[in-house]
Amino acid sequence: MTHLSGRHFLQIPGPTNVPDRVLRAIDMPTMDHRGPEFATLGHEVLDGLKAVFKTAQPVVIYPASGTGAWEAALVNTLSPGDRVLMFETGHFATLWQKMATKLGLVPEFVATDWRRGADPALVEAKLKEDKAKAIKAVCVVHNETSTGVASRIGAIRKAIDAAGHPALYLVDTISSLASIDYRHDEWGVDVTVAGSQKGLMLPPGLSFNAIGEKARKAAAGAKLPRSYWGWDEMLANNKSGYFPYTPATNLLYGLREALAMLREEGLENVLARHDRHAEATRRAVRAWGLEVLCAVPEEYSSSLTAVLTPAGHDADELRKRILAAFDMSLGTGLGKLAGKVFRIGHLGDFNDLMLAGTLAGVEMGLDLAAVPHRKGGVQAAMEFLAASAKGAKAARKAA
Ligand SMILES: Cc1ncc(COP(=O)(O)O)c(C=O)c1O
Repeated sequence: MTHLSGRHFLQIPGPTNVPDRVLRAIDMPTMDHRGPEFATLGHEVLDGLKAVFKTAQPVVIYPASGTGAWEAALVNTLSPGDRVLMFETGHFATLWQKMATKLGLVPEFVATDWRRGADPALVEAKLKEDKAKAIKAVCVVHNETSTGVASRIGAIRKAIDAAGHPALYLVDTISSLASIDYRHDEWGVDVTVAGSQKGLMLPPGLSFNAIGEKARKAAAGAKLPRSYWGWDEMLANNKSGYFPYTPATNLLYGLREALAMLREEGLENVLARHDRHAEATRRAVRAWGLEVLCAVPEEYSSSLTAVLTPAGHDADELRKRILAAFDMSLGTGLGKLAGKVFRIGHLGDFNDLMLAGTLAGVEMGLDLAAVPHRKGGVQAAMEFLAASAKGAKAARKAA
């Protein structure tokens, strides 16, 4: 092993850079999770999370990666053989659909070209066709991390209502929470799934379900087997600030700190920062003469940008060159996008100069890997960042 000086640039779309404040908060002696002090921590994080999901409903915390929270959302609300409507927006939507099938659910999986989100008009049409109301849930990945496309969750809610359909609405916000505007209550989402390692700026290891009243009612009659993921014991214990099994105590210290940081910056400012960095990134991509994978401007992701490499140029070779030369990790192309796209993560604890450094690494890498491109991407991003910096600072002050 050789020592690499300076900081590694972790610009995959999660896990994201963990701020020093969070790392220091985690680096504390583990406390008795059944002792009196723990309840204060438990209440603080369970209550504090609500503002981030924009909900007054309970949020539960699992010591698990996001996949666990996917499973929890399904097994608590559904029964074997239930039909669910899912959208193939990319790799993660595909994995969630595979899980639903393994659990004994019957997904209808609506295809897309992996360049757009779930179409609200199609949601409405599919639900209207379902005269028998056999579809029990509509499952949507808000931000498809494999493609950099954000589905329109509010518009899909309206589509479900327009169809007059009683299906539950389950949404994965694993790479959008605290990065892209999201409103659990206002958008009538029944279960929101989230994870710790992206917008929440924590290491991997925690995941979440925000649970609406309709979902809690559905849980009373849902027949899929569940034990570890069961909401009932979790919610009962959470009332007094405790957990039914050993929680990830040190990650909860980190979560308390991350929630404080989000409050200090102001959630709306955090979201605006992500929007601004995403716009700067897209300007760089266009200036290079490359193509953003997302084909629908109103569905551009503010967490990450997936970039197509020209035909005949392997995106993974480019990533390898960039890692070797500049110690920066970029996201790989997943599933059918392998070798065709690289993903620039710009979410979490991030600022203008980190973005400028990231884009400089990409631009130099394009040269090294001999990917045909024009110069000036970093310049285009810098011009946008400079022109919009004053507004961003004023907004921060006003918070
Ligand atoms: C949108 C989305 N859903 C689900 C997952 C799976 O989460 P995990 O890998 O934490 O289990 C990920 C992981 O990156 C994701 O980005």
